[in-house]
Amino acid sequence: MLDRIELAVAAGEFLSIVGASGCGKFTLLRLIAGLDGSFDGEIVFDGARVASTDLSRGIVFQDHRLFPWLKVEQNIAVALRNAPLGKDDKARAVAEHVELVGLRGYERHYPHQLSGGMAQRVAIARGLINRPRLLLLDEPFGALDALTRSRRKTNCNASGRTKASR
Ligand SMILES: Nc1ncnc2c1ncn2[C@@H]1O[C@H](COP(=O)(O)OP(=O)(O)OP(=O)(O)O)[C@@H](O)[C@H]1O
Ligand SMILES: [Mg+2]
Repeated sequence: MLDRIELAVAAGEFLSIVGASGCGKFTLLRLIAGLDGSFDGEIVFDGARVASTDLSRGIVFQDHRLFPWLKVEQNIAVALRNAPLGKDDKARAVAEHVELVGLRGYERHYPHQLSGGMAQRVAIARGLINRPRLLLLDEPFGALDALTRSRRKTNCNASGRTKASR
């Protein structure tokens, strides 16, 4: 249970929350994201009280939570549904983010055709694509190996081989 949480995060600050399993780390992120409104107290983002989800606050979940019936590119594009962009700009943004997480060639694959780490990278692309002002990450690299985590760019071709570059 979360109790007496007081937290102030400045613009540009990168904050890590560490705690035992089940202590409420994700619960706190869920509240900040606006996914859950059943709490006492107040959460203020950029001067306004958080009442619901908003494109300015993105979240990447501990598990990838991809839609199994959507392809990689569609799973990423889901995040842009309410974004003020035209169709072409959305397609361009999806392609850029597929590239960013090293999944070019996998655009038309379904989640069940991906490894756990690749699915996690799709989820990371989905979290980044709206360029949220606040990005909430719930152990987003948990499914990635140590080498991939530390790499700035990973190239992965559709034959399943992964090549990383710095
Ligand atoms: N949807 C839910 N309904 C009821 N209880 C929940 C729900 N989600 C989480 N909990 C409970 O809230 C507590 C905190 O869960 P939370 O997922 O925030 O933990 P966590 O700190 O992220 O843990 P972990 O490190 O294991 O991921 C747990 O005791 C869990 O059982
Ligand atoms: Mg958790």
